Amino acid sequence: MKFFIDTANLAQIKEAQEMGVLDGVTTNPSLMAKEGIKGQDNILKHYVDICNLVTGDVSAEVISTDFEGMVREGEALAELHPQIVVKIPMIKDGIRAIKYFTEKGIKTNCTLVFSAGQALLAAKAGATYMSPFIGRLDDVSTDGLRLIEDIRLIYDNYGFETQILAASVRHPMHIIECARIGADVATCPLSAITALLKHPLTDSGLAQFLADAKK
Ligand code: G3P
Repeated sequence: MKFFIDTANLAQIKEAQEMGVLDGVTTNPSLMAKEGIKGQDNILKHYVDICNLVTGDVSAEVISTDFEGMVREGEALAELHPQIVVKIPMIKDGIRAIKYFTEKGIKTNCTLVFSAGQALLAAKAGATYMSPFIGRLDDVSTDGLRLIEDIRLIYDNYGFETQILAASVRHPMHIIECARIGADVATCPLSAITALLKHPLTDSGLAQFLADAKK
């Protein structure tokens, strides 16, 4: 399973990249705003800065909601850097835009997916990635991981190549369960990735080894 980091914070992206386990980055307008990145020029420059820090795909989201606007924005984003993946919302014009970019050989990430039907549409349009938001489903008492299972089954039934990119990942068990189910990618906050490192027996075992090494 690929690990993406879900942030626009350059220091956190760098830290994950230096661990050597990072396969890509996802951003969204909320994550850009959280870092205080404002104005079109600064936003575009920030995407390039992210691409220069990592080796994998970097999702950059359009904010238009009509087909022509998404195409205009997406083409500009794709021209910024070869690692850019155009992130497009799961709406009718978005599906049309995904199909358009797929035919042009531009990678897409269909975002804000909350049902298996939406995931099926994204795959039919040829999305490179499709992002179900599992944490936000859990927030409304719906099993986000069950949705990943359903989509895995549907995609495998028909050999769809669209990659399941589990998003809105909140904690390490989300990551472990996504890996068990067979999600292709999990995009995670840095805290969830580093939480995978932790085990009290590792800490106590290491402390013992270090103490014994001094004897
Ligand atoms: O990848 C989508 C993510 O940024 C949303 O996460 O925690 O706001 O639901 P969250």
